[in-house]
Amino acid sequence: MTMDLFEQAPPAPWAEALCEGAVVLRRFAVATDAELLDGIERVAKQVPFRQMQTPGGHTMSVAMTCCGDWGWVTDRRGYRYQPQDPVSGEPWPAMPEVFNALAVDAAETAGYAGFEPDSCLINRYSPGAKMGLHQDKDEDDFDQPIVSVSLGVPATFQFGGLLRSERPQRVPLAHGDVVVWGGPARLRYHGVLTLKTSDHPLTGIYRYNLTFRRAW
Ligand code: SIN
Ligand code: FE2
Repeated sequence: MTMDLFEQAPPAPWAEALCEGAVVLRRFAVATDAELLDGIERVAKQVPFRQMQTPGGHTMSVAMTCCGDWGWVTDRRGYRYQPQDPVSGEPWPAMPEVFNALAVDAAETAGYAGFEPDSCLINRYSPGAKMGLHQDKDEDDFDQPIVSVSLGVPATFQFGGLLRSERPQRVPLAHGDVVVWGGPARLRYHGVLTLKTSDHPLTGIYRYNLTFRRAW
């Protein structure tokens, strides 16, 4: 006996609320995955992925590059946004139009119409890389949401509360999933658990994450 009706995956994309102000748009970026990965490759040709230093002197396990008007950087002097790549002194690569369109569309779908991202941080996780719990709070204005796109190898996202002490939810994120948080959820702690060794047909061993913000 077969139960085809129940074995089929739900139609994509679909939304799952995390809390007031935060939602996962499942598979939202799958339709444009090839263009997004091509954009990552073009940005990384201009500004290669680098493992930056934290203010405390540790090397981050996640490698990063940026595009848009503002790039997020960290070194011994602290975390900040700046208009040039600190290594070359050149402006960051322009944000590919496919990036901007996806971010605006995802924000609107999540209830944040009028999102105008001016910064996209591109994170690359290899097996063993992780990101500790943190708040995104280096931006000038918290009225605009964060839009966070997962591509490639799956990961476990941690989504916590407004206090670091609050135990985070564990949210599995697959290729094409987009998390949007804003409003009352804008300053929630979040992070990514250690990436497991895996293989994705489009990205190999890597997981990429695009994080869109309005920095200024
Ligand atoms: C971040 O918080 O910057 C990254 C989140 C993620 O990789 O999913
Ligand atoms: Fe973050």
